[in-house]
Amino acid sequence: MRLPGFYKLSVEERRKILKEKGLLNEEDFKTLSSPLTLEKADSLVENVIGILSLPLGVATNFKINGKEYLVPMAIEEPSVIAAASRAAKECLPEGFSAEADKPIMIGQIFLEGPSFDCNKLREIGDEALSHLKKYGCGVVDVKERYLGGERRVFYFYVNVGNAQGANIVNSMLEEVGAFLSSQSRVIMQIVSNLAIMRKVRVRAVWHSNQKQVLDAYRCALADIYRCATHNKGIMNGIDAVALATGNDWRAVEAGAHAYASLNYYKPLTSYYINEEGGLVGELEVPMAVSTVGPAVRANPLARLSLKLLGVKDAGELAMVMGAVGLANNYAALSALSTEGIQKGHLRLHARRVAKEAGAQGEEIERVAQNLASEGVFSLERARQILEEIR
Ligand code: MEV
Repeated sequence: MRLPGFYKLSVEERRKILKEKGLLNEEDFKTLSSPLTLEKADSLVENVIGILSLPLGVATNFKINGKEYLVPMAIEEPSVIAAASRAAKECLPEGFSAEADKPIMIGQIFLEGPSFDCNKLREIGDEALSHLKKYGCGVVDVKERYLGGERRVFYFYVNVGNAQGANIVNSMLEEVGAFLSSQSRVIMQIVSNLAIMRKVRVRAVWHSNQKQVLDAYRCALADIYRCATHNKGIMNGIDAVALATGNDWRAVEAGAHAYASLNYYKPLTSYYINEEGGLVGELEVPMAVSTVGPAVRANPLARLSLKLLGVKDAGELAMVMGAVGLANNYAALSALSTEGIQKGHLRLHARRVAKEAGAQGEEIERVAQNLASEGVFSLERARQILEEIR
């Protein structure tokens, strides 16, 4: 969603705009100011003694499959939200195209014992999920892999609907495991975070810095140390949306890096220049995320983020997250291969110092520009400049 100049406004002014657009109401602002009570936190995890806060911002300019989004991102690192918004703006008016696979997760049962009829196991697993049929859940397939000796692993392919899937899969596996344990020694049963059946694919075309970005991408292809950082930049965006929407970002991380490592460790994005000279960026990554479930229900801020985002299901959320990952990657490669990332960081830092010095509205930009051009970012100098321009 385009919100020109949003970054220049105060928090209150930004909230006012979101209210005017009918995206958030007064009740939501209360949630934004005190999102999680100690009592709620205590019901979520063990041994609670406090609550960790993170800034929640929104990335602007995202258009995915023709629909506009304002994307909530929870992150402590400066520049990430600005970079995503800038890259999203630079691929307009087309924006991103995206598609998500069906929500199929894989569950595994490792055991020592005789082989079993996979179809029979599928039926038992499916029966264990009969109460969730109305949400589209069920076991669609089971496969066996022989591991040597009497050891084998069964892979359960499970449709988990709009859920992240770990709880659904693990509960089902435990029922099947109980059946199997009468004839075998069940070693363990657990969901796999390599959600390879549940990938998202995103694409966008940019018309600036094509050659430089392509060169930067090739560095990641050629060198694993660079590739890790390249993928980290992608996860900056993906994790921030996962956090904002109450999703298990460790599961998303595990899936992404295991997927990147299949055969050999590689970038999660790829780039090429098309016949029109545009830079095509593509991303493919597993995306096991959810718009329902206990973590979302218990976290008012996650519910609010999903409302702001306006996604109808987990597949649509996955596409948004993929688009943000690709945007952050393009932005990072573009900055690294041109002016470097520090200049942009310093510009944002200058704005922060200007605000801290008391600059308001238009003054912020003017003070920040002065600080940046002098290369001095002290609060004292910011105050002096503010006095001079006033
Ligand atoms: C920093 O959080 C992310 C980057 O290092 C990503 C990259 O190098 O591609 C800027």
